[in-house]
Amino acid sequence: MKILHIESSIFAHNGQSSQLSRRLIAQLKSQQPAVEVVEKHFAAAPVPHFDADFLTALNTKQEQRTEKQQQMVDFADQQIEDLESADILLIGLPMYNFGVPSMLKSWFDFVARAGVTFRYTENGPEGLVKNKKAIIVATRGGLYKGTPADSQTTFVSTFLNFIGIEDIEWVYAEGLNMGEETKQLAFSGAEQELLKIAAAVQ
Ligand SMILES: Cc1cc2nc3c(=O)[nH]c(=O)nc-3n(C[C@H](O)[C@H](O)[C@H](O)COP(=O)(O)O)c2cc1C
Repeated sequence: MKILHIESSIFAHNGQSSQLSRRLIAQLKSQQPAVEVVEKHFAAAPVPHFDADFLTALNTKQEQRTEKQQQMVDFADQQIEDLESADILLIGLPMYNFGVPSMLKSWFDFVARAGVTFRYTENGPEGLVKNKKAIIVATRGGLYKGTPADSQTTFVSTFLNFIGIEDIEWVYAEGLNMGEETKQLAFSGAEQELLKIAAAVQ
């Protein structure tokens, strides 16, 4: 089993979302020592903005690319390769200002590539990233789950569905800035859910 683990917290390993997603990895490794984990830690290795220079590099024929453009294409290709070679996509997802961390948005921009991860057909868009499970560990200071203010769940699910990932498990730890007791309860509840997920993916 191969896991692509994205820590998108600006606080790296200390992030609350990182601590919970790492808890799942520790559990999976204890169940299956051979599990392979590819780590992406955005705080340590920032994802650049997907801008017009990247798009131009991708749209330039290989033999006409500058060295810098080729490096940009290599980076972009690597993101898709890492996703495609994983069985499970695990994302530690903090809420920042009602949305997803900006580097995660940029990473989504890198992996959405027409003809590779999705295509348009007569029947509408078709995702090409098949046979994967996503596990999203969402941490928030307040309480948003199930309310219209939780744009994260809609956005991330819509995006992953669009590229073909339909099996998505959400684990929420909410109210983390609402006092110690609420925080501890949210953390232990999320841990219990993660243990159940780990047991099911054996
Ligand atoms: C810059 C910033 C913006 C935040 N914005 C929100 C927010 O809009 N809603 C919320 O409930 N919590 C917000 N929080 C609290 C975080 O969602 C919460 O602490 C979360 O667990 C952080 O995850 P992390 O430690 O993995 O980065 C914010 C925290 C930071 C640092």
